[in-house]
Amino acid sequence: MNGEITAEKGSVLFKKVTKTYSDGTRAVDRLDLEIRRGELVSLIGPSGCGKTTTLKMINRLEEPTEGTITVDGMDILSTDPVKLRRRIGYVVQEIALFPHLTVAENIGVVPNLLGWPAKKTRARVNELLSMAGLSPEKYRFRLPDQLSGGQKQRIGVLRALASDPQVILMDEPFGALDPISRETLQNELVSLQKDLKKTIVFVTHDMGEALRISDRIVILRKGRVEQEGTPEEIQNSPKNDFVRSFIGEDRLSRMSPDDPVESIIEDPWGKAAPWESAAEVLERMEENDREFIQVIDPKSGQWLGMALLGRVRRAASAGETVLKGVNRDRKLYAGEATLRDAAEMLSDRDISIPVLDGDGHFIGVITSTALARLAVERLRSGTKEAQTA
Ligand SMILES: Nc1ncnc2c1ncn2[C@@H]1O[C@H](COP(=O)(O)OP(=O)(O)O)[C@@H](O)[C@H]1O
Ligand SMILES: [Mg+2]
Repeated sequence: MNGEITAEKGSVLFKKVTKTYSDGTRAVDRLDLEIRRGELVSLIGPSGCGKTTTLKMINRLEEPTEGTITVDGMDILSTDPVKLRRRIGYVVQEIALFPHLTVAENIGVVPNLLGWPAKKTRARVNELLSMAGLSPEKYRFRLPDQLSGGQKQRIGVLRALASDPQVILMDEPFGALDPISRETLQNELVSLQKDLKKTIVFVTHDMGEALRISDRIVILRKGRVEQEGTPEEIQNSPKNDFVRSFIGEDRLSRMSPDDPVESIIEDPWGKAAPWESAAEVLERMEENDREFIQVIDPKSGQWLGMALLGRVRRAASAGETVLKGVNRDRKLYAGEATLRDAAEMLSDRDISIPVLDGDGHFIGVITSTALARLAVERLRSGTKEAQTA
């Protein structure tokens, strides 16, 4: 089997890998997974689905019970585990920096083990610190105690990069940080990765994080792949309810005022055709206690305006059609309007807003109730996050 594998340097390949712990727990179940050189792949899934076990098998901190794992096309079971670990970077949550070593010494741990000359290590440490926006003069000689949580994790990432390994494993590296530091480090990782093009296997349980940083997302469930794809593919076509619920919650808590209005458009109850008499429509509105109605050409679907009760009443007493009573100023266009636009318009006047496509066809309305529901759900998912954090 070894001979036929021609994978390039920096690729990681799982073939039918199973891991059963000694107590009988099957943590990983016939897993097939390919991670290509230079790709940042997130493994995500609920607690206990096998993310950490999968990661640890790559550098042989755990060994597969069945199946094959290759790194750089070589079966890892035929490589020396210590050497293997030195050529794979590893970052974990609440990184264990050596407390009695300086920042520079911590970053230089692996280069030292590899026997690099002191001068080369020093230059590399300085280069990495500068890359992460930490001035070497200021930070080289600090001890871990003198760093913030975010800075410690940053040093942990630099330590993993120090000997320039092609493959880096990260197990919830930013999981213990406050949201602002977490987002800063995510952004730094993305910008570092643009230049470095490492093969990164990144474990997280935070879908927002996975969506922000990954080239590809692998959703695990009970030790198997439930779905994999780019962030767009996963978001646009979740395979089943499991995936949907997994992205749903986080998507909601990530929802921002700049998001498009599409997700909250509803079909309205009140419509009228332009040729209907205002008197007829007025009767219908009064019966149903409506304050406005959308006037739409039933054949073309063109939106002709929104008719407000007072104007319809006036048109009715003048014996006109309902079209005489419409207003055409207040509307939003799908594809350009944001939730913020909708919120601003509704705060001016709490009457549903018609939404049109670029050709003026009526799509639906946005109501203040829909916006309120969104806000409530977002608050609720925020509380849930805070509770599980
Ligand atoms: N050393 C171990 N011995 C026995 N069971 C383990 C061990 N490590 C993990 N497990 C079990 O294996 C499953 C997967 O664990 P893990 O890979 O840590 O999941 P995740 O990182 O996705 O939370 C869980 O059921 C966990 O309890
Ligand atoms: Mg884990």
